[in-house]
Amino acid sequence: MTFQTAKSEAASKTDLYANLQLQLRSLLEGERDFIANAANFSSLLYHSLPDLNWAGLYLRKGGELVLGPFQGQPACVRIAIGKGVCGTAAEQRQTILVDNVHEFPGHIACDSASNSEIVIPLFDGERVLGVFDVDSPTLKRFDDQDAEGLNELVTVLVAHEEGLDE
Ligand code: SME
Repeated sequence: MTFQTAKSEAASKTDLYANLQLQLRSLLEGERDFIANAANFSSLLYHSLPDLNWAGLYLRKGGELVLGPFQGQPACVRIAIGKGVCGTAAEQRQTILVDNVHEFPGHIACDSASNSEIVIPLFDGERVLGVFDVDSPTLKRFDDQDAEGLNELVTVLVAHEEGLDE
């Protein structure tokens, strides 16, 4: 009954991300400080999504990404745009899903426990503000549903900031 298992996993992932949207909106309510919101964002996702060893933001400063709020082991502080998975996602302006980080050319190993990864760029209109990076010790941990769910959550975080600035 592989089909049924796959179907129920998909349904529960949909529920998980829908629930995270509600929790995130409630966490952000009324607060305008981006670093504080990004810190709670990282914590919420790190503690709610199963099987992670790192979740956090790198924020764009000039030609590089600089470590922002995160959960997990201490990480490398600066990543040049175009380098590693994070820098590549920022340069290509798209979500990058890596089933096996050891096969990604130029992957920057901050935590030796990481085996798969997903990186989502944060946009302010056309401008890339930074990236949200999530790592897992399990190979092939992330799929298209995670990409979609995480993109929606990142959009809520950034849109909240913009909304409050108006
Ligand atoms: N894996 C990233 C580096 C950041 S750490 O995983 C926190 C990369 O190659 O971009």
